Amino acid sequence: MSRKKVTVVGSGFVGSTTAQRIVDMELADVVLTDILDGPPAGKALDILESAPITKTDAHAIGISTASGDYSGTANSDIVVITAGFPRKPGMSRDDLLKANYDVVKAVVEQIVKHSPNCIIIVVTNPLDAMAQAAFKVSGFPKQRVLGMAGVLDSARMSAFVAMECKVSVENVHSFVLGGHGDDMVPLPRYSNVAGIPLPDLLPKDKIDAIVERTRKGGAEIVNLLKTGSAYYAPSAAAVEMVEAILKDKNKILPCAVYLEGEYGIKGLFVGVPVKLGAKGAEEIVEIKLTADENTALQKSSASVRELVTVLGL
Ligand code: 2OP
Repeated sequence: MSRKKVTVVGSGFVGSTTAQRIVDMELADVVLTDILDGPPAGKALDILESAPITKTDAHAIGISTASGDYSGTANSDIVVITAGFPRKPGMSRDDLLKANYDVVKAVVEQIVKHSPNCIIIVVTNPLDAMAQAAFKVSGFPKQRVLGMAGVLDSARMSAFVAMECKVSVENVHSFVLGGHGDDMVPLPRYSNVAGIPLPDLLPKDKIDAIVERTRKGGAEIVNLLKTGSAYYAPSAAAVEMVEAILKDKNKILPCAVYLEGEYGIKGLFVGVPVKLGAKGAEEIVEIKLTADENTALQKSSASVRELVTVLGL
């Protein structure tokens, strides 16, 4: 049996840690690409040389796409797009809009040529708009284009809940919907500790603080790092999606997908619960929202709509 193949576009911190996790978990052989010449090959070789210690036979190779040659990525099962300019302190995700649109467009055009049957997972910010860009440029069916954000935002919320409740992170399940922006929608009612809904466990002020910290989770890291944005949790989140697809797990995870009327949202990528399996987004799971939760989701999707309108998508 030949191993699955995952291309990770962009060999920065998110891309290289994504490649490392995929190889360490022996999920697939990885092709790490970058427009830089040297770093993707160097990082992939470094990952490969750790394999005898981490005991994995999955391979990593790095290629430069500076010449525009993407042939080394051919026939990938999944392509994770991390390429783009990262956030700097004081910069919003949306400031990145136009610059990263050009990057994602150029990448997707090549990916489609060489891996016409792949599933694309977009990680580049602003997330939902870039996922929409990849969807439109690729012409792929909506099941095969996903944005990674909800898994990351939910993981941040779970980490904060676990700290507050002093319980294992394994006991916590958190639920964050909406766009990957400051008005994302953490849902305490659907979040729980060992099955106990959050509102039954924590006072409102503690929950509000967790919601607020979750919304600003990306900025909190940017402000600490000073040069660049988060990568350990983002890569872990992307790899959870990769694993669900490669292992055909039918795992329900919050992902940005193209909505066509679900949650009253049409023609737009927004984060909602999605069943991930071998075909990609196999099903969008619709849950009941209260009036307030729905208002928050519509507000969040309106922010995404603004961005895609600017881009003419
Ligand atoms: C994050 O949430 C920067 O969007 C990225 O960490």
